[in-house]
Amino acid sequence: MNVVFIPGATSGIGLGLALRLHAEGKTVVVGGRRTELLERIAAEHPGIGTVTIDITDPASITAARDDLATRFPGLDTLITMAGIMEPEDLRDPASLEVAERTVEVNLLGPIRLITAFLPGLLTQPAATVMTVSSGLAYVPLPATPTYNATKAAVHSYTESLRVQLTGSNVRVIELVPPATRTTLMGQQNSEVAMPLDDFLDEVMSLLRADPKAEQILVERVKWQRNAVAEGRYSDVLTVLSGRYRS
Ligand SMILES: NC(=O)c1ccc[n+]([C@@H]2O[C@H](COP(=O)([O-])OP(=O)(O)OC[C@H]3O[C@@H](n4cnc5c(N)ncnc54)[C@H](OP(=O)(O)O)[C@@H]3O)[C@@H](O)[C@H]2O)c1
Repeated sequence: MNVVFIPGATSGIGLGLALRLHAEGKTVVVGGRRTELLERIAAEHPGIGTVTIDITDPASITAARDDLATRFPGLDTLITMAGIMEPEDLRDPASLEVAERTVEVNLLGPIRLITAFLPGLLTQPAATVMTVSSGLAYVPLPATPTYNATKAAVHSYTESLRVQLTGSNVRVIELVPPATRTTLMGQQNSEVAMPLDDFLDEVMSLLRADPKAEQILVERVKWQRNAVAEGRYSDVLTVLSGRYRS
């Protein structure tokens, strides 16, 4: 993990991870749609690269890929961070629009990114693909049905990707965040969400501790990640069912 591209790093977990990796001496490129944030990040953190990218647009992905191949030929790590999370009332037909958008960003987005970047990563001496699922991949938050479903799908896709890349130079890691204080769905001040800096501290130490880890699981997410194995699924679903109820 030496030259890292994080599409979805204009804010929140992606930006936090980008700054941590940059502070450790990695070359980091942050991506996203909000160009004003990209400009601010570049101005405030000299050395961090930026690229405008909309992961719902295949042409934008290939343009970013080709641009980065020229500017950062040693790019060896892709972190598919970009995501959206919106509540859906499934009794309301208007929720379909949210569902379609969520699948396009959270599931098709990582698939398109990985498909576009993998050929280049396979030419590096050692490379990493890190996907970003969620504790909600393992027990759903009923207020956000399609979000949970896309994250369960990202988990499944990641498992297959890792098996298909066995024996190659590419390591595959799934980052599984718990509820974390970002503006993703307005949980930046939520008591049930983990403070962002605490989350990032734990993630960085887990990455350092086990270079072969397949999943990055902070303590807070094990409540959901291990719910089935530990016979707590119904209890966890009951707790999550009470959250974000209108
Ligand atoms: N925070 C949590 O509680 C939590 C828990 C589990 C998993 N996660 C996951 O962690 C990841 C980061 O979320 P966050 O909490 O840090 O939220 P965030 O601050 O809202 O960050 C989301 C990032 O995704 C980017 N993005 C969204 N749509 C995009 C698009 N079409 N093209 C390119 N970039 C796009 C945004 O950039 P632009 O708007 O500039 O494009 C932003 O940088 C997401 O995948 C999320 O599902 C978060």
